[in-house]
Amino acid sequence: MNKRIAVKTIALTTLLCFGGALQASETFKIGMILPMTGPFASTGIQIVAAAKLYMAQNGDTVAGRKIELILKDDTSAPDVTKRLAQELVVNDKVSVLAGFGLTPLALAAAPIATQAKVPEVVMAAATSSITQASPYIIRTSFTLPQAAVAMGDWAAKNGIKKAVTLVSDFAPGIDAEKYFKDRMLFNGAQVLDTLRVPMRNPDFAPFLQKVRDLKPDALYVFVPSGAGTALMKQFTERGLDKAGIKLIGTGDVTDDDLLNSIGDVALGAVTTHHYSASHKSDVNQKFVVAFEKANNNLRPNFMAVGGYDGMRVIYEALRATKGNSNGDQLLAAMKGQIFESPRGPMFIDAQTRDVVHNIYIRRVEKVNGQLYNMEFDAIKDVKDPGKNN
Ligand code: PHB
Repeated sequence: MNKRIAVKTIALTTLLCFGGALQASETFKIGMILPMTGPFASTGIQIVAAAKLYMAQNGDTVAGRKIELILKDDTSAPDVTKRLAQELVVNDKVSVLAGFGLTPLALAAAPIATQAKVPEVVMAAATSSITQASPYIIRTSFTLPQAAVAMGDWAAKNGIKKAVTLVSDFAPGIDAEKYFKDRMLFNGAQVLDTLRVPMRNPDFAPFLQKVRDLKPDALYVFVPSGAGTALMKQFTERGLDKAGIKLIGTGDVTDDDLLNSIGDVALGAVTTHHYSASHKSDVNQKFVVAFEKANNNLRPNFMAVGGYDGMRVIYEALRATKGNSNGDQLLAAMKGQIFESPRGPMFIDAQTRDVVHNIYIRRVEKVNGQLYNMEFDAIKDVKDPGKNN
């Protein structure tokens, strides 16, 4: 080898090694934005607890990079989410944005993810269209249409010929209403009315009275995680159960986080969802025991699972890139991941960047003195019906 080439080669090798070493020794930062205070704080508390559990179980170093979780409370205000996302990217130089407790919050951060080319891992929000707001969004929660279509089939085939819907008046509620109604009509059943209640501090009373007067076979509901208690209690207090009206919905209303405090009025409610703390598998059993142990017996809900699986997707992407935190490379390594989650088998569809998983039909039952959503049927590998491909 000629001397000049040899020197150049050594210089280049040194540069590459040094460059690699620099990147490898740098902390890999995950900016997690969640509502930690206010009416949706339970979502933030569950997801942070799950993310911390994942790190405790899997170590805080991946491919030679130390992982740092930077947590920010957006108080469920979209303008705050957007500002925090910007600060995390520009000042803290995070490699991934994560969390997002409500649809408007996930959407507020989307332009930042796109401009900065930083993956946005949506662990909670569940409106179908979210993944279309940025090519850098990956979802590990679920979509409302996945749950709603499953119920539109189950209800119509199980004696519910006339239903009324009652949803929180914002994007995920509208998704739940539309996909449930369309599926009921497709199956030859009827939806007598579609009622929408304010997202914040709803007064259910006038709506439930209307439902009573309409005398449907069932009331189909969606309210966001953390808001189910008032609705479930008033449903019984206003005598809808005695009038023979069944309560059905997405699993958000019989949230594992609240179920025991809702109490026996929840018994018999049938819901469709992707996760129940009572899901029978070794992976889930271990997850629930470890989560409860680390969190003073708090039961993990579907939000926790979205956070736990989201951390898994981030860790495995960084392992696949061998510690490289380039946003496009991380994103590529997130697409197509397939693994067993506490919810069951789970897959990140590379085309849509959305989650594919089983949707379970569950009934609230008492087991050893505690209320659980007991799964009794499953629809396998459900893609988001809101996507056209
Ligand atoms: C949402 O805002 O997308 C959302 C929030 C809470 C849920 C489900 C969806 O339980």
